[in-house]
Amino acid sequence: MMQAEPPKHIAVIMDGNGRWAQNRSRPRIWGHRQGVDAVRRTVRVCIEQGVPHLTLFAFSSENWHRPEDEVSGLMNLFLKVLTSEVKSLNKNGVRLNIIGDISRFSPKLQSQIQLAQDMTASNETLVLNIAANYGGQWDIAQAAKNLAYQVAEGKIQPQDINESLLGKHLSLSCQPDVDLLIRTGGDYRISNFLLWHLAYAEMYFTQTLWPDFSEEELINAIRAFHCRERRFGQTSQQIQEFAFHG
Ligand code: IPE
Ligand code: IPE
Ligand code: MG
Repeated sequence: MMQAEPPKHIAVIMDGNGRWAQNRSRPRIWGHRQGVDAVRRTVRVCIEQGVPHLTLFAFSSENWHRPEDEVSGLMNLFLKVLTSEVKSLNKNGVRLNIIGDISRFSPKLQSQIQLAQDMTASNETLVLNIAANYGGQWDIAQAAKNLAYQVAEGKIQPQDINESLLGKHLSLSCQPDVDLLIRTGGDYRISNFLLWHLAYAEMYFTQTLWPDFSEEELINAIRAFHCRERRFGQTSQQIQEFAFHG
């Protein structure tokens, strides 16, 4: 059954940069640099297709375990791209929102993140969440800790805690759950990305390595999403009756 509405929230695990470079006998960081073009393409298509929320996995909490030169190369790249892209993102109505534990980043990177977020704060065309030093388990744990403090301070009661309240304390707080998850690079796993918000996401896995991920493939992924029947626990018949009668 076709769904006319564009997905409200697309999340992407941008995987395969290292292999893309190694296939060309180049250092892995070169693949990360090439991946930036695929990010630009993805943002452009989301704006054109009317997708209001996009979350990109840029650096996981586990990626610190990579060789030191790759980690520092990624940090430098992050700083460079954040600085060079913010104007054009702003011009295109993109609101930048970095999610993850940024306290481990250099003061320079932290202040650039703050600057980019402040500069784009009132934009409404697309919310672009960049997950950096992000882990889905960390996100749920920090929300739980926050609620525990509120209970200890007497601001809320333990029985007030439910899915809705916990959800509000996650990094994406009031943003809609993910409709479509895309993972490039050929693996079929979540790698500690948005665990909570993927509850009912449709999954699109592709062998394509991230630097090769094209506008056409993103549009195809959105088309594939439109062909899925999302039942949210109901029966197919219930969904079809609702679509017919409204
Ligand atoms: C994803 O590409 C980007 C980051 C994790 C920062 P990889 O660097 O994981 O590329 P592969 O999976 O090794 O090819
Ligand atoms: C997931 O890719 C993290 C990002 C894309 C930033 P990884 O390459 O780190 O995932 P694993 O380690 O293969 O699961
Ligand atoms: Mg990888």
